[in-house]
Amino acid sequence: MRLLSLPLCLSWVLALCLAAPPHHKEGHSDPYHKEDHAHPDQHGHPDQHSHPEHSHHHDFVRCSGIEFDAITLDEHGVTYFIKDDHLWKGYRGSSEFINQTFHELHGSIDAAFRMHHKVKPEDHDRVFIFKGDHVWSFYNHTLEDGFPKLINSEFPGIPYELDAAVECPSGECNKDAVLFFKGSHVYSYDLLTHVVKEKDWPAVMNCTSAFRWLEHYYCFQGTKFQRFHPVTGQVSEGYPKDVRDYFMKCPDRGHGDKTREAVFGRCSGKPFDAFTADDEGKVYAFRGDYFLRLDTKRDGYHYWSITSNWKELHDHINAVFTWDHKMYFIQGDQVYIYKSDVHYTLVEGYPKPVEEELGVKGPVDAAFLCGDSHVVHIIQGKRMLVVDMLETPRKVVREWPLHFDHVDAAMCGPEGIRVFIGDIYYEYGSPMLLATSKMEPHPHKTRKELLGCDN
Ligand SMILES: *[C@@H]1O[C@H](CO)[C@@H](O)[C@H](O)[C@H]1NC(C)=O
Ligand SMILES: *[C@@H]1O[C@H](CO)[C@@H](O)[C@H](O)[C@H]1NC(C)=O
Ligand SMILES: *[C@@H]1O[C@H](CO)[C@@H](O)[C@H](O)[C@H]1NC(C)=O
Repeated sequence: MRLLSLPLCLSWVLALCLAAPPHHKEGHSDPYHKEDHAHPDQHGHPDQHSHPEHSHHHDFVRCSGIEFDAITLDEHGVTYFIKDDHLWKGYRGSSEFINQTFHELHGSIDAAFRMHHKVKPEDHDRVFIFKGDHVWSFYNHTLEDGFPKLINSEFPGIPYELDAAVECPSGECNKDAVLFFKGSHVYSYDLLTHVVKEKDWPAVMNCTSAFRWLEHYYCFQGTKFQRFHPVTGQVSEGYPKDVRDYFMKCPDRGHGDKTREAVFGRCSGKPFDAFTADDEGKVYAFRGDYFLRLDTKRDGYHYWSITSNWKELHDHINAVFTWDHKMYFIQGDQVYIYKSDVHYTLVEGYPKPVEEELGVKGPVDAAFLCGDSHVVHIIQGKRMLVVDMLETPRKVVREWPLHFDHVDAAMCGPEGIRVFIGDIYYEYGSPMLLATSKMEPHPHKTRKELLGCDN
């Protein structure tokens, strides 16, 4: 009875928190399609769904608590969990042999990561695998020419028999780098200069595997893991946590508030409060006290608390726009300005009244600024106010009536201006077209077209 009730219970939980038909959970064959969870969940490969020939691996169930040798993403955003000669794709399903995916590998490996090295396209996005004194590089499941190599010839100064490795792109680390772990030693390897720096990180050592997911860094120690900062080595509060609650689907395990997920989750269809795209191509969507990144589609979606990125911001925001490498958050009648860097830091003296900063009385509904422009468009009720950021003091230089009664959010990106109302958005080529066009353009479904939901 218990065994029977488990799959039912699981699919009930999935149906509830995904708000998607359960049949999509079975044998989904689209590796790009990612689910919505309060943890890094995703579909793996269709093969992961219990094939009869794999049934002899069932004694190797990961929910029993496995210390993985390596965890990495591949170039499609599929997560590989590797232990001895077993490999799991995605967060559920049984294992296969590692040599079914990486034909040239035999037996257990030490470490793996997905290279981020845009300056060297022949290495970028390759899965690098370490074992003993050698390194392999795979792309499209095919071994790259010249590999395997001695670790020392590819990464001079990095020791053999590693415990773990993880990529650290510039923007997260100061430059494109790889972090290597061996016992209590942590090495940061600069991919451009090949300079190796040993870190003194007492809280991050003895990692049995390491993993980067959506700019977050995790060190796994047995069945526990910690989140750490890739530059300072500081461990976040509330860790260590158990792998089985976050990185796999286990019966009666998990985390997060499912009711909350149903309301605020990616596919809930509830309106968003604000959107913005920054100069680095990061696209943010804000809803309640959570935010999502829309540009990380390949590796999945996840909503994080706003406070975790912008410390002083609690509760929902009304509007956000990006100008001159800074993010302007409007909440009620206050504006918060954050410098966009590896960390977001609140500019001194803020928050300040919106009226003082922008010459507009808050609250507002939406705001956007396009590319290199210095003109911000602020939507308030049925009107759009234009403020020139280069003027002092700032004031409304132009006002347009809008043909919308209410707008939830707006942003400007490579596709033009998007105006969000409920679970629909409209696209306009320019602020002028938004202000003057009498015809309502084709409505787009936010959930389906921007968030990868099924409907
Ligand atoms: C793949 O690995 C398994 C287990 O290590 C082994 O039994 C099998 O012979 C290997 N297959 C090939 C084609 O090497
Ligand atoms: C990937 O590899 C398969 C064979 O393993 C090949 O047919 C396919 O063309 C390759 N794709 C790319 C993009 O290289
Ligand atoms: C790391 O492992 C060493 C040797 O097993 C042990 O002495 C040390 O306490 C461990 N450190 C941490 C932070 O787990």
